[in-house]
Amino acid sequence: MKILTTKEELKKELSEFKNDTIGFVPTMGALHSGHISLINAAKKECKIAICSIFVNPTQFDKQEDLDKYPKTIEEDKKLLIKSNCDFLFLPSVKDIYIPNEEYIAPNIGKIVNILEGKHRQGHFNGVMQVVEKLLRITNPTHLYMGMKDYQQFIICSKMTKAVNIKVDMRGITIVREKDGLAKSSRNVRLTKEGREIAVNLNKRLKKTKSLLYINNIKRLEKKAKEYFNKIEEIDLEYFEIVDKDTLMKPTGKKKKENLIALLAAWIDGVRLIDNMELS
Ligand code: PAF
Repeated sequence: MKILTTKEELKKELSEFKNDTIGFVPTMGALHSGHISLINAAKKECKIAICSIFVNPTQFDKQEDLDKYPKTIEEDKKLLIKSNCDFLFLPSVKDIYIPNEEYIAPNIGKIVNILEGKHRQGHFNGVMQVVEKLLRITNPTHLYMGMKDYQQFIICSKMTKAVNIKVDMRGITIVREKDGLAKSSRNVRLTKEGREIAVNLNKRLKKTKSLLYINNIKRLEKKAKEYFNKIEEIDLEYFEIVDKDTLMKPTGKKKKENLIALLAAWIDGVRLIDNMELS
């Protein structure tokens, strides 16, 4: 695996793959098997796979969250080599941003201000900003993102269209621990007790799915909120059932079709998200 730390170096390396399929996996490091499933998918479908590790400051609304973001670069490199990743792009903040850079996000509608966007001010602007930059540097044919960050995937799909970047979007299924907890770089920050409690997130999503045909959406959301309220260690931020494509509340006759439940919750001061397609 070749490691490149500047965009010029990477672009030079990639110039010989102009006519090939290039799979790109943007990450913020602290890699786990969820990320590796993205590399595997890229390797399977494309001639080369590029992974970037860049902890993007513009997508954090709290400095503390940015500071606490786990950094495990040596382990990350080992995992990437093991999965036969071809290129690792490790840029510095200076290489990606110019000081006091202004960013005007493409207008992709209300979707950036709901769910995650409502609770993490400016988060998706930062994500769109960095993903667009990384795409312009790597110029991939395929972009691989994990479906745990479901809203991020939908937003990046809309963003690429809005800014005329031609790339095949691939959303890769969530990788879960044996007990159902979605793999996340943040899981390592949970205490032993918190880790045990965290299983309830997936448990309730599964229960919601099983109850879909005998309850309306409002009632399912209410039941989920009541469930989490009873667990002292879980501080639920949101639990919402929305249309899979628009992420808006479903209306009309097709109310029970094309649905997804999404949640965010705090356990032990760690913010976790998860989701499940319901229909
Ligand atoms: O999902 C992530 O790790 C980040 O949001 C991404 C897509 C790498 C952009 O910084």
